[in-house]
Amino acid sequence: MAKKINVGTLISGGGTNLQAIIDACLNNSIDANILFTGSDNPGVKGLDRAKKANIDTFVVDYSQIIGSCKNKGIKETDLPEDFNLDEIQSKQQLVDTTASKEQAAFFLKTRAIAERKFLDIILAYDIDLFVLAGFMRVLTPYFIDKINTEPGKYKIMNIHPALLPSFPGTDGYGDTFSYGCKIGGCTVHFIDYGEDTGPIIGQKTFEIEDTDTLDDIKKKGLVKEWELYPQCIQKFADSLI
Ligand code: GRF
Repeated sequence: MAKKINVGTLISGGGTNLQAIIDACLNNSIDANILFTGSDNPGVKGLDRAKKANIDTFVVDYSQIIGSCKNKGIKETDLPEDFNLDEIQSKQQLVDTTASKEQAAFFLKTRAIAERKFLDIILAYDIDLFVLAGFMRVLTPYFIDKINTEPGKYKIMNIHPALLPSFPGTDGYGDTFSYGCKIGGCTVHFIDYGEDTGPIIGQKTFEIEDTDTLDDIKKKGLVKEWELYPQCIQKFADSLI
């Protein structure tokens, strides 16, 4: 048994992956404790799951922040004090190359405003590993650099509903289904500056029958996700021994 690691989680929705990790922590099948669950979305079921397990919860309402920036514009004073657009622009690999300079700047600024609000809460905790459990927002270099402070050491994990490097983006199972794949899968990987591009920690696959609907694929995939995520967290915990 390794020493227990402290885990912080971010979610956006139902939190079935979060539940799988909570259960694995509670039944001691992994050497981890979850200290908090943050959400970009108020009122989601995942927050209730966390509260039920006595985990601290908080919300940074991304839609509200982005909407207000659209309506009122972004003033210099709205941005985090240490925000440097040129630096973030030069590192990030998230914004579509067809986006205009203004669109890219708006995207990176609004995300940094929201990320700063998360960081103000998160950095008060002593966390070994950050786990994105169905967190449907990208993280920019502004956030990532505040967490990955040791060169070459990744501390943020994500689960993706496809066998990366195939089908990055928001609809992995949908893309797997539309392409007509005979094998589907899920991937746990570390977060880097790109979208779903970081080093792969683990993957699981499942067979797709000709009669399977998209819903069947999602169901098969989620079952694999619930097995995979705790295993990858344990792999991380073992690496810290
Ligand atoms: C999962 O399929 C995950 O891979 C994707 O979003 C879904 C979230 O499910 N990123 P849940 O909130 O853990 O139930």
